[in-house]
Amino acid sequence: DVTNPCALVLFGSTGDLTRRKIMPALYSLAKQKLLPPAFAIIAFARRDKDDATYREDVRAAIREFAPSLQPEGPEWEAFAQNIFYLRSTLDDSEGYHRLANLLDTLDQERQLGGNRLFYLATPPENFLEIIDHLGRAGLNRQKTPQSWTRIVVEKPFGYDLASARQLNAELRARFREEQIYRIDHYLGKEAVQNILVLRFANHIFEPLFNKNYIDHVQIIVAETIGVEGRGNYFDKSGITRDIIQNHALQVLTLVAMEPPISLHADAIRDEKVKTLRSLRPFSQEDVAQRTVRGQYGPGKLVIDGKEVEVPGYREEEGVDPKSTTETFAAIHFALENWRWAGVPFYVLAGKRLPKRVTEVQIQFKAVPDVLFARTAAEGLRPNRLVIRIQPDEGAFFEVCSKVPGPGLKIQTVQMDFKYGSAFNVPVHDAYERLLLDAIRGDASLFARGDEVEAAWEVVTPILEAWEHLTCPVFPNYPAGTWGPKAAADLLREGQVWRMPQ
Ligand code: BG6
Repeated sequence: DVTNPCALVLFGSTGDLTRRKIMPALYSLAKQKLLPPAFAIIAFARRDKDDATYREDVRAAIREFAPSLQPEGPEWEAFAQNIFYLRSTLDDSEGYHRLANLLDTLDQERQLGGNRLFYLATPPENFLEIIDHLGRAGLNRQKTPQSWTRIVVEKPFGYDLASARQLNAELRARFREEQIYRIDHYLGKEAVQNILVLRFANHIFEPLFNKNYIDHVQIIVAETIGVEGRGNYFDKSGITRDIIQNHALQVLTLVAMEPPISLHADAIRDEKVKTLRSLRPFSQEDVAQRTVRGQYGPGKLVIDGKEVEVPGYREEEGVDPKSTTETFAAIHFALENWRWAGVPFYVLAGKRLPKRVTEVQIQFKAVPDVLFARTAAEGLRPNRLVIRIQPDEGAFFEVCSKVPGPGLKIQTVQMDFKYGSAFNVPVHDAYERLLLDAIRGDASLFARGDEVEAAWEVVTPILEAWEHLTCPVFPNYPAGTWGPKAAADLLREGQVWRMPQ
């Protein structure tokens, strides 16, 4: 897009996220010719490197985490010559002045139009410092009236409501809201983007998405991985901060929100905020009744087709051997609005569960017990719409059908749609879409400040109540199982957790 030449300044450029996600996504965009022709990446970091050694590091990361992109030959050379390394600590104001000079030089040499995208991919404890220094060096301002300056902030956005508010306040002291792009990479996933299309580009679901027809909704974010070398971070966080406050609640808002008045970023986010604000606040008693936490012990599970024995959470590196951090949580959210009153939204997220799968299940109410009940009752099941976010992106709808043959037997059949067979195009990583949108200035797949705070407002009382309520005896589920048995008690009679096979 020739209208968007720019420099991307990356903080946290030697970190895990950069190596696993950001650089492969940028290189993949370059290969698809989706990056602006005039483009530069500046890595701002402390370690002793120069342009050449950093470029080789990036190449090694892409080879490791996205080998199919094959960073070789002229394509790679063309990409690599856009990468620059600026050595500085994050607290050195002189480093930010050198950054300003380098940006000016690159603007001139490469016609970058003065456009700048600052990307904060460091650990969160560095965010405030970087924002402050960017402001002091004048880098928060637009360089010219025609140019743009934006800042992308990675998760976790805050540790609780108070710290999220503080981070928002510091950001807003230096940047206008429309310059701020808060990442939740789930929003960049194709099947998550598809939720609004399924709901509002079809007539068959939307009229039924309400308390009259829906029994309950389940949102499941199951992972087989444990903490993967991130024990230090995770032990201070837990699954509720790591997955539920952001990814799961984002999915919940997309399933539950009212139709926005347009596809403009603020129109969508206005509706999402409204939905989050209609979630019933948790009292301590609610927390006792409507949440279940768990922590995995040692166990066995199948990874890449092989059964392996894995250690318990407390034996992971960086984790306190007496840790009471939850690696599993199941929470019953209630939406107190006209559309959804009385319909439970159950969220379940966990590490070391038997399968990696993210799904939304919308369970319809049973049909009236009159016509088929006597003859074919056992086959008569309520409809289910399952939106599969990953892997095997798609959606299926379960409907009752007559089994061929004499008499009347009813069975559930699936109407199925899979991205793999429906579209003959690859599904790209969420980071590609998000980086491109940040460069193009479309914030609709990023969280607004009030949205993040509204999500923390719901989740923080749960975390605080857990500190005061008696903690279950941990570990309370073996790795490779669907979490503690108590999770079943959250559901009402007749409801069962969908444990996708
Ligand atoms: C991240 C969490 O935000 O999301 C990780 O910090 C988690 O703990 C990851 O593993 C899951 O992302 P995905 O895209 O693999 O579902």
